[in-house]
Amino acid sequence: MSNTTPITGISACVFDAYGTLFDVHSAVGRHRPRLGRQADEVSALWRNRQLEYTWLRSLMGRHADFWQVTGEALDFALAAHGIDDADLRADLMAAYLELDCYPEVPAALDQLKARGMQTAILSNGTPRMLAAAVANSNLENRIDAVLSIESVKVYKPDPRVYQLAVESLQLPTEAIVFLSSNAWDAAGAAAFGLRVAWVNRFRQHPERLPGRPDVEIATLAELPGQLAA
Ligand code: LAC
Repeated sequence: MSNTTPITGISACVFDAYGTLFDVHSAVGRHRPRLGRQADEVSALWRNRQLEYTWLRSLMGRHADFWQVTGEALDFALAAHGIDDADLRADLMAAYLELDCYPEVPAALDQLKARGMQTAILSNGTPRMLAAAVANSNLENRIDAVLSIESVKVYKPDPRVYQLAVESLQLPTEAIVFLSSNAWDAAGAAAFGLRVAWVNRFRQHPERLPGRPDVEIATLAELPGQLAA
């Protein structure tokens, strides 16, 4: 799928947050000694259940915000590993507000802004979670708008979420490139009609879903080179 033809006519870059700008596994990473050999499995199960609960709640018509969903997914992951530790639970949730950004993110955003691009986040996260993550990584001056699905109270990949970007930025759909490391999120945005760069950080196989990304990159450092005037 890799494509070397740059995407043209782009005015705004809209980023998924978790997994794309911010490393979700850095929360468990901070408390790794307390989780021992189960650390990576707990982190993976936490993330998987978190996403599954967003999809399931949207299908059930029973929205709860991403902070609640993230906590309930963590409760599942800890219980599944036989861990009953309220202090650890609280510390992992606090760490989710201070996730590390991936190392190339600040410089990539600076390059885009120097070229006059608008930058935004479009995420399942609550406004409070996203503001905390942005501030923790000193991205306040590098991100122009933070858009949360809490405005529509349905989770990705519902088309109403991607529509939020079009309405908020007041740009034509084809002038927006959406970036996500989550292949299903990239597919959702492409199916909606946004231009999409799939940040395939984890060298995953393409999903068999409607919506094909325009380009595939390994990290955000490759993004500026994929956009032409
Ligand atoms: C988000 C999830 C999908 O930030 O990572 O929306």
